[in-house]
Amino acid sequence: MSSYLLGIDIATTSTKTLLMEGSGKVLGSATAEYPLETPKPLWSEQDPEHWWEATVKTIREVLQKTGVSASSIAGIGLSGQMHGLVCLDSDNRVLRPAILWNDQRTGAQCDAITQRVGAEKVIQLTGNPILTGFTAPKLLWVQENEPDVYSRIAKILLPKDYVRYRLTNSFCTDVSDASGMSLLDVANRRWSDEMVDAVGAKRAWLADVSESSDPSSKVTGEGASATGLPEGIPVVGGGGDQACQAVGVGIVREGVASATLGTSGVVFAASDEYRVEPEGRLHAFCHAVPGKWHLMGVMLSAAGSFRWYKDVLGQQESREAAETGKDPFEILTQQAALAPAGCEGLLFLPYLTGERTPWPDPLARGNFFGLTLRHQKAHMTRSVMEGVTYGMRDSLELMRNLQLKVSHIVASGGGAKSPLWRQMMADNFHARTVTVNASEGAAYGACLLAATGAGIFPSVEAACDACLQETGETLPGPEATVYDDFYPHYKSLYPALAPIFHKVAATVEKHGGSG
Ligand code: XUL
Repeated sequence: MSSYLLGIDIATTSTKTLLMEGSGKVLGSATAEYPLETPKPLWSEQDPEHWWEATVKTIREVLQKTGVSASSIAGIGLSGQMHGLVCLDSDNRVLRPAILWNDQRTGAQCDAITQRVGAEKVIQLTGNPILTGFTAPKLLWVQENEPDVYSRIAKILLPKDYVRYRLTNSFCTDVSDASGMSLLDVANRRWSDEMVDAVGAKRAWLADVSESSDPSSKVTGEGASATGLPEGIPVVGGGGDQACQAVGVGIVREGVASATLGTSGVVFAASDEYRVEPEGRLHAFCHAVPGKWHLMGVMLSAAGSFRWYKDVLGQQESREAAETGKDPFEILTQQAALAPAGCEGLLFLPYLTGERTPWPDPLARGNFFGLTLRHQKAHMTRSVMEGVTYGMRDSLELMRNLQLKVSHIVASGGGAKSPLWRQMMADNFHARTVTVNASEGAAYGACLLAATGAGIFPSVEAACDACLQETGETLPGPEATVYDDFYPHYKSLYPALAPIFHKVAATVEKHGGSG
């Protein structure tokens, strides 16, 4: 009898459940959406009950759609939005809405923890500075602002681990997701007593930590009756969404990185050793591959910049697309190809929603720099694509500065569908840039972790080798030298402009704008 696996990704706006055959073939998926609450500016919250309801609904739906019998499910892998704080009381009831990864309320708490521990020590212990989206400062915020809630906390969980609790009645997490809490000793893959004390948390509040492919819990009778699955199915540790996404496209060995051009842009490299960017400009987390780590750079507006450009300046192309049935992005990228590499000195800064890597600055702003009368729309279109690619190159350069050799890149996300964009990546990254036969994202990585845990594959690496193949490659071409000449100019713009960004934001605020 065949074995099947479920990968469940608890994302920010929806949960997706994917059903995979032991061979790696995807049989079907189901998705259920839920709202995101912003009760105040900068806040971002969600009711964990929605995640559970979406999990139940999508498990039932995918089983029904594919006709696969629940009794042949050999394992489950969970993936999810990272960093969110779920607080439970001693009866395991949710105490308040979860505070999510994109919530920005904790600036003061980040400063307070950093001061208590020392900026360098924080990076040494956790691999990263304390960032507003991470979990520990949220806990401090609850202590300071909702003492009644805080006094009743008995457990804290990450989003996917709350779903695991409902499914298995156990309190477990995995090393990759736990890395984003500012509470894990990332080098040693265990909780850091020093950080736990500094935040004023209790060790008993924290879940047990396992490796991502280790079966750490089993579906209970209650989980079984809610989902229609049989009792006892093993649930592996799983992973944070970025680590699972990376496993899902085969980023499991040092030497290979992924560049994902979605709304945000992520450059993700596997590392055999624990490496830390000394200023904490790259995230350094445990990987979802046992005994490995990863480095990650996150751009906030990658393909999101291109979408903005299409919406604001691409009306003509959008109309043409509507009339001809073409994709407006395809029309724009064809137009971009008419401008020369380097755009004759026109540079675009993609900081439309501030930036995370390499300049963690919410007040950084977008920019077209260097316009002249020679510049046409094709130059502007191309410069947006080039600016985003330079931004990803920033992350890759930080990685290479840490002696991490990256010989090839897996390109994924909507932007990677464009051959021009893939060529820009290969040229700028000085690396063979490939696409692979997987497009299901983090849920697919979660399935591969579950398959490893179920013993179908001896390791996560073996699971990737068996299930993933390259579908295309782009090699660096002659334009690489043009980009090499323009990239240093791009790189020097943010430091030169940062003081002006900050002054402009203050002026906008003075006049009642959002900064
Ligand atoms: C990772 C991160 C996001 C969230 C939501 O550091 O903040 O990937 O996990 O997708």
